[in-house]
Amino acid sequence: MKTSFISKSGNNLDMVIICNDKSTLQKTPLDDLESKQVKSDWSKKIKFSIITRGSKKLLVYKLDVAKSMDQGSEMARRVACVCNKELNRYKISKAEIFFDIDNSSEKLAFVEGLMLSNYQFLKYFSEAADKKNSLVEIVLYSNQLTKNEITELEHIVSGVFTARTLVNEPLSYLTALQLSKDIEVLSKKVGFRFQYFDKKKITALKMGGLLSVNKGSIDPPTFNILEYKPAKAKNKQPIVLVGKGVVYDTGGLSLKPTPNSMDLMKSDMAGAAAVVGTFEAIVKNQLPIHVIGLIPATDNRPGENAYVPGDVIKMHNGMTVEMLNSDAEGRMILADALSYAQQYKPSLVIDLATLTGAAVAAIGKEGIVAMGTAKDNQMNQLKTAGSKVHERIAEMPYYDEYDSYIKSDIADMKNIGGPTAGCITAGKFLERYTKYDWIHLDIAGTAFLTSEDTYKGKNGTGVGVRLLYDFLKNYK
Ligand code: BES
Ligand code: ZN
Ligand code: ZN
Repeated sequence: MKTSFISKSGNNLDMVIICNDKSTLQKTPLDDLESKQVKSDWSKKIKFSIITRGSKKLLVYKLDVAKSMDQGSEMARRVACVCNKELNRYKISKAEIFFDIDNSSEKLAFVEGLMLSNYQFLKYFSEAADKKNSLVEIVLYSNQLTKNEITELEHIVSGVFTARTLVNEPLSYLTALQLSKDIEVLSKKVGFRFQYFDKKKITALKMGGLLSVNKGSIDPPTFNILEYKPAKAKNKQPIVLVGKGVVYDTGGLSLKPTPNSMDLMKSDMAGAAAVVGTFEAIVKNQLPIHVIGLIPATDNRPGENAYVPGDVIKMHNGMTVEMLNSDAEGRMILADALSYAQQYKPSLVIDLATLTGAAVAAIGKEGIVAMGTAKDNQMNQLKTAGSKVHERIAEMPYYDEYDSYIKSDIADMKNIGGPTAGCITAGKFLERYTKYDWIHLDIAGTAFLTSEDTYKGKNGTGVGVRLLYDFLKNYK
């Protein structure tokens, strides 16, 4: 979507007018009759009025009173989604946005919501052109939002769209190797360092977790390293972002059932997608922060040579794992990446993974399950970012006792816990491979939606990108 700026209203465009309870409508471009119609709607508790002026539409939305700044922003994003639907329904291509509100974070959030709602994944439709949203341009006032604010937002949204598209791509396109190639293309386009290791190199590095998950597959694994190191980085030691890149999770020999389970598992690389999208956003916006991204990638399949429950696997850091369920594959590949991260002496490592059904069971799609060993102020900064962008962080209890749940009879640990606290025991497994401040984010509930949820849409949400961008921007 394109954004342009004007200094004065009245271009005879279709228009969205955003008001609140303080609006008298006098400052808006509505004429007396139109204002009267809107006020009459308001008296009937109708918040959304659609006015026809000649061949043009005027959409007037009255925002509710917010309890907090974060809630106000989220309301504005959701209202923007409602407006986006109407603009596209009326086949409007260019709309002017008129704010009759003062709160600048609500204004920006409205534009963000409008942009995020306009996402589509049409690649595989024969008649994609017919399905394309009509809305291609919004017109804003230069005195209300700055060009810099909008450019920053465009770059963030572009990162979110990249992440959504990667998640929406099926395995028939997005194999581990294709993921690496896609990241390579992006790295050249936006400007960050990138390399990936092939199976030979992964074998030489003794990444036993990644190799064992890949054993049942025909396609080779990859291990991807992204780096952005601006000259004036504010951090001496890098922040490392690790993303689970299971391009498809059949469960392996511990095969998943199809309905509402395996059929959603092209999304099992959403952690990887979040890392890639975050890189796009931070590099395009030139944030002064040194960040490294690590993405172990493979599919998880029950091929002839697949690893079997009971196998003992030697991991990258030399520890051994009794693998008792091949569907707990995410932790196997992440463990190697977390161990590999050690060499960077990171100030903080954050991993993102669609790791457990238990995280979905615990809090559904309304938040991100979090835990880890990072300092309180690091976790608190992440929580603040989460509330601001409405990718909320729900910190789990992380008692020492949970560690005993993954004790094995014959190896250093097993790859499953008991029937309870599944998302936490997965975290405890990962912790064994970390020797630095670390936060684990289980995005299983938030990464992929089977029904539409406002500006997040349906299917891949790109969760993590807006969260990490805001966190890294404000990192102290
Ligand atoms: N990719 C799944 C987790 C998942 C479930 C993601 C639902 C998104 C939606 C993961 O690899 C998995 O299968 N985890 C198992 C672990 C269990 C075998 C210990 C699970 O949660 O059932
Ligand atoms: Zn699995
Ligand atoms: Zn998985």
